[in-house]
Amino acid sequence: MERELTATEAEIKSLMKQLPLINRISDGNLRGLVIEVWVRLWRESPYGDISEVPNFTRELSSGDETLVRHTNAVVKMSETAAREFQEVYGVSLNYDNLLAGAILHDVDKLVLYGRQGDSVELTEFGRKVTHGEYGSLVAKQVGLPEQVVNIIASHSVVKRETLPASIEAVLVSCCDGAVFQSYRLMIGEELWQKS
Ligand SMILES: [Fe+2]
Ligand SMILES: [Fe+2]
Repeated sequence: MERELTATEAEIKSLMKQLPLINRISDGNLRGLVIEVWVRLWRESPYGDISEVPNFTRELSSGDETLVRHTNAVVKMSETAAREFQEVYGVSLNYDNLLAGAILHDVDKLVLYGRQGDSVELTEFGRKVTHGEYGSLVAKQVGLPEQVVNIIASHSVVKRETLPASIEAVLVSCCDGAVFQSYRLMIGEELWQKS
């Protein structure tokens, strides 16, 4: 059953240690589905420890950034940007969906990126699917809302085939790009540009 929750207590405990911001999702059902997607992809991956997953292939940055630190940065920045935007314009945003999408935006890197010696390359599977698409597919399979699925599918300005369909998706995509480019400058690389 695709929609059955299969994450064990031990898996949940070790995931929550790395990504405690999951607890900021107020809806318990949504929180459970976000955990389920992370755990399913973790099981498919070669990584024993989630903290070891790299965030960039060699092509994107030579920095040894981790998926966990990057994800935490994007979640925090997206939430802050949403609060400020909401306050200035008086719109009502869906924070649970924004948080869920931000926490899951790069989850497919667990299976798409692999360490090869000192380098990080696309895995065999990573050469067959687009980053963002696979994460969004698993999110849809477990029953996450379509807004969350779109946030994942549309977040990457480097890889996306789908555009953001909501303010929440635009904010996550912009914060992801800001973290990516700022990280590159921080470690002495130039701004990434589409070639
Ligand atoms: Fe990404
Ligand atoms: Fe990202």
